[in-house]
Amino acid sequence: MRTQVGIVGGGPAGMVLSHLLHLRGIESVVLELRSRQVVETTVRAGVLEHGTAELLRQTGVGERMDREGAVHHGVNLQFGGRRHRLDFPELTGGRKIWVYGQQEVVKDLYAARLQEGGQIIFEAAATGLRDLDTPTPKIRFRRGAQLDPEAGEIRFHADAEEEEITCDFVAGCDGYFGVSRSYIPEDVRKEHVRTYPFGWFGILVEGPPSTEELIYALHERGFALVSTRSPEIQRLYFQCDPHDDVDNWPDERIWEELQARLETDEGWTLKKGRIFQKDIVQMRSFICEPMQHGRLFLAGDAAHIVPPTGAKGMNLAVADVRVLASGLTEFYTSGDNAILDAYSETCLRRVWKASRFSWWMTSMLHRFHDEDDFRYRLQLAELDYVTSSRAASTSLAENYVGLPMEPAPGDTANNRGRAASAST
Ligand code: DHB
Repeated sequence: MRTQVGIVGGGPAGMVLSHLLHLRGIESVVLELRSRQVVETTVRAGVLEHGTAELLRQTGVGERMDREGAVHHGVNLQFGGRRHRLDFPELTGGRKIWVYGQQEVVKDLYAARLQEGGQIIFEAAATGLRDLDTPTPKIRFRRGAQLDPEAGEIRFHADAEEEEITCDFVAGCDGYFGVSRSYIPEDVRKEHVRTYPFGWFGILVEGPPSTEELIYALHERGFALVSTRSPEIQRLYFQCDPHDDVDNWPDERIWEELQARLETDEGWTLKKGRIFQKDIVQMRSFICEPMQHGRLFLAGDAAHIVPPTGAKGMNLAVADVRVLASGLTEFYTSGDNAILDAYSETCLRRVWKASRFSWWMTSMLHRFHDEDDFRYRLQLAELDYVTSSRAASTSLAENYVGLPMEPAPGDTANNRGRAASAST
């Protein structure tokens, strides 16, 4: 099989890339390990930065997001029994966020690509990459793959032959556990890791939202977050032991814990409903440097993971492939490699800033139970500062709605201004 860009992974990074390339006349083939149905029904992140939502809209895949997603003009920070709202448009010159599930974004992209005749091979596992330092890199893969989530193993149909895609470029969009990253040689690869001493217990709840806008709460017992997915579904999280088991948490215990952490002096109460999913999310920061080697380019979780606080994961994936699509377009239209050569450096500037923001939000909003009161009191003071100083509120807000895209190489100062406003 021959294509221009072979894309390993059909999540947000791989699918936005395939879509942007198609709009610029560049052909791609996407390999996705899971079935279409599994991807489309697995609930993941749900917050889109202003620029991410604009990109989807401007490229013709934002119609359902505008219809079914929810625009949020701010978030609430809660501590000491009181809730404080940050108004994003007011603090950032009109920018806001969209709450629209990652799986819905991917569903819209699958529909758009398949309607245009795009090639997405589901249940196909990449088994190896080769010739990455030649003009014709190759992806080996097998169809009929099934991921066994219990064992963390991939199984194949016994008669599945190994096949190969020959391409001009390989995009490794196969997530943290994918194979692509390992093809950046160890002697040039540096991996930065930070694990946090807690996890997030997440639930999905049937019933109307408890709040119109997200609530991030720090309480003596730990962090809690109230979010939504739709007018009929609430998404709630609370800090837990990362080694805890969902079976230790019957529904009533969950509601008591959430209510305790979210109570305000005014007696606010959470709207309960039927809990239909429980999961525990691990908290980790991870960054791989560089994000490219030869003709392999990593994007999204394959290259970096942020803790979920601040909802940057999917947005970073989209920002990466935006740069990659520009670089590939430049290559195919003028033969110039400048954007591709600077891919890693350009992306990592944003990645490190988003990692800093996610680390900072995480550190400010969670209880570090092994530490004394001093740290907790500093966290409360920081929240007091963030919610009472316009400068500090603006800093949180501009990061939350999304920093401007990094300028491409060769952009003059003048172009930089334009690049920033183009991403609004
Ligand atoms: C959600 C997740 C986040 O990490 C966050 O900061 C806000 C909302 C969510 O899943 O809705």
